[in-house]
Order: sequence, then structure tokens, then C-alpha cells
Amino acid sequence: MPAKMLQNTTILFVFSLIFLSSSHASVQDFCVADLTGPDSPAGYSCKNPVKVTVSDFVYSGLAKAGNTTNIIQAAVTPAFVAQFPGVNGLGLSLARLDLAPGGVIPFHTHPGASEVLIVMRGVMTAGFVSSANTVYLKTLKKGDVMVFPQGLLHFQVNAAKIHAKGIVSFSSASPGLQILDFALFANDLPTSLVGQTTFLDPSQIMKLKGVLGGTG
Ligand SMILES: *[C@@H]1O[C@H](CO)[C@@H](O)[C@H](O)[C@H]1NC(C)=O
Repeated sequence: MPAKMLQNTTILFVFSLIFLSSSHASVQDFCVADLTGPDSPAGYSCKNPVKVTVSDFVYSGLAKAGNTTNIIQAAVTPAFVAQFPGVNGLGLSLARLDLAPGGVIPFHTHPGASEVLIVMRGVMTAGFVSSANTVYLKTLKKGDVMVFPQGLLHFQVNAAKIHAKGIVSFSSASPGLQILDFALFANDLPTSLVGQTTFLDPSQIMKLKGVLGGTG
């Protein structure tokens, strides 16, 4: 083949590759969760794009305060992929925090995500503990933001006498939530083993199991 013709053929080939790959990419703009299927580390499978509407990308569930009439006097209202299918595959999600006076979001971790908190109302004392066992603690007022690195134990407590409200954002559509006190006192892990692994007295363990609904 003459050099000029070869060059033209190459250019045509490259152009058709670009065209094909960009038309393919347009089908992959999003992957709204098909919540009827199972979740996986890679997220849910995609809802048929023909059936996707703007409602999949809008969630109104954070407009209302969560119910804080409970033992922690606080509520976490999630906008994770299970509530908000449009975030599937995008590596982000949200939640609303409401803390009545005296309210606390107890020590917990999100195994799959870092978190950033913005305080919208009131005052919160927030903290996390690093792998080196250093405590990072701050009282946050309206407008302050704090980041909680992935996997580390952290908490928020209401630090004033008025309702506190915050919005948290996660670096995952499915950040997960593991609450330390629930892991220790709200399941059937035997009291003797909780005692052995935490050095707490059986009477204190039984009291907390009673309050949090644990058995054994
Ligand atoms: C909040 O939760 C408490 C305890 O479950 C319940 O008694 C109360 O009716 C709830 N309030 C609202 C407004 O849903």
C-alpha cells in the first residue's frame, strides 16, 4: 500500500475507534441501581437506562428531621444507594444528622468510606481516634466542616442546649455503619466473652445488654 493511502486508512481507523468508544461511553453515563437485585462490592447492577427518570437522581428524604425519641436522642437519616439509587457507582452518598439536646451518635465506623460533616445548626463536639490511638477532637459550630478518615472510630455529640443538625457526605454509595456499643452489647455475643475481650465487669455488660437489647 502506498504510504499516503496507509496514513489515510490509519486516520480513518483511529476516528472510527474514537466514534465507537464515545458512543459506547454515552450508555455508561450512569448506572442507577436496580434495587431488586443484590448489592455487591461493585454496587448494584444497572437499571435499564430506558426506565431511568429524573426521580432516580433526586431524593427528598433529608428535608425532614429524623425522630430523636430514642436511647441516643439522635437520628441518622441516610441517603445511601438503598434510598437514593442514582448514587450507585458514583462513590458518594449523604446522610442527615439530628441531635436533640443531650443527643449522641455513638462511636462508630464506616468500613467503606471517609466522611465529611458540615454543621448546619447548633453545636457538635466531634472526634475520631487514629490507628496510632491519637484523639482528634473539636467542638464545631454552624458552618464548620470536619473530615473523618475511612474506617476510623468516630462520634458526634450535641454540645449545646438546642437541636443540632448536620449533613454528612461519604466517599461511597454504600458506606456501611458499625456502631461499637451495638457490636458489644446489642447481639448474642456471650457476656463472658464480652468481658474477656473488653475487661468490663459482667454487671456492667449485663446492664448495657439490657438497655441495648443484647442477650447471652
Ligand atoms: C418517634 O419515635 C417514638 C419512639 O419510637 C414514637 O413513640 C413517636 O411516635 C415517634 N414520633 C414521630 C413524630 O414519629
